[in-house]
Amino acid sequence: MRQKIYVTREIPRTTIEALQAEHDVTVNSEDRALSPDELRRNVAGCAAIVSLLTDRIDGALLDAAGPNCRIVANYAVGTNNFDVASATDRGIALTNTPGVLDDATATHTIALMLAMARRIPEAERFLREGRWDGWKPMFFIGADVDRKILGIAGAGRIGRNVARKARAFDMKIIYSDVARNRDIEDETGAEFVNKDDLISRSDFLTLHMPLLPETRHYISAHELGRMKPTAILINASRGPIVDEKALVEALRAHRIWGAALDVFEDEPALAPGLTDLPNLVIVPHIASATEETRLQMGAIVSRNVLAVLSGRAPDACINWEAVAPRFTE
Ligand code: DGY
Repeated sequence: MRQKIYVTREIPRTTIEALQAEHDVTVNSEDRALSPDELRRNVAGCAAIVSLLTDRIDGALLDAAGPNCRIVANYAVGTNNFDVASATDRGIALTNTPGVLDDATATHTIALMLAMARRIPEAERFLREGRWDGWKPMFFIGADVDRKILGIAGAGRIGRNVARKARAFDMKIIYSDVARNRDIEDETGAEFVNKDDLISRSDFLTLHMPLLPETRHYISAHELGRMKPTAILINASRGPIVDEKALVEALRAHRIWGAALDVFEDEPALAPGLTDLPNLVIVPHIASATEETRLQMGAIVSRNVLAVLSGRAPDACINWEAVAPRFTE
């Protein structure tokens, strides 16, 4: 039976077409994130919602969708926009897109590290502004990455992928996580350390943890004060993991050498003063933005939705154990 699906914003055409082949699909065609009120109006009567990390999926939204709603499929690997308990209470499956964006995100992390270490955006701005008057020995001096210490906070799939790529620069990998991870150690010789050692020993510190109450402001003024003055902080995970105001102060005072951010605490707003800092590289949350990756994310979304709407288990469900009985009754 054809059912109603709401897609909160344009995503790859192939995903929409796969869904349309079996169901009635409405896509928000405005190129903006909808307000909670608009979303509530638009999802009424839907069996599936395809959401983005910018959509808050809470009890009010799920109630607005109504009793036929069976799945909310995030077009993202991150799931911090989900109120998991509200969905689970209502027997609604929540899915994400793990695995397919590891390479793109890890490559982007390395790109951010190199861009900051070698001051590429700053040097490019200088050149475009017509300010170059010839080669100079003491000009745009950056930092080597080769054989330096790369600290990885969070040794999940993306953190491990970054570690493997960083081995190409002979970097010494240290990592911290809630538990020791033999995979990253076997693959890269990484050393398991506690948070304090991670912060104080890293030449480059990169964050790859989910946003949870306990990871919010994992890097705050205290941690920034414990980092090496030559260190570079990289964040391509979730903005609120770093206290952005404290980072602005630390960069302004040159307490650390630099930072490179793909994500921000209150997107799309930026902390006051952030854009004025020369010792910072910033890009607008684009770590997974490659053609190939976004198509694969879309393919997982359509597979998940079609599976759940025909009573089958999805590939990637964060609350399947809790909601499975509803699908097998
Ligand atoms: C995600 O998937 O969670 C990223 O932040 C966007 O692709």
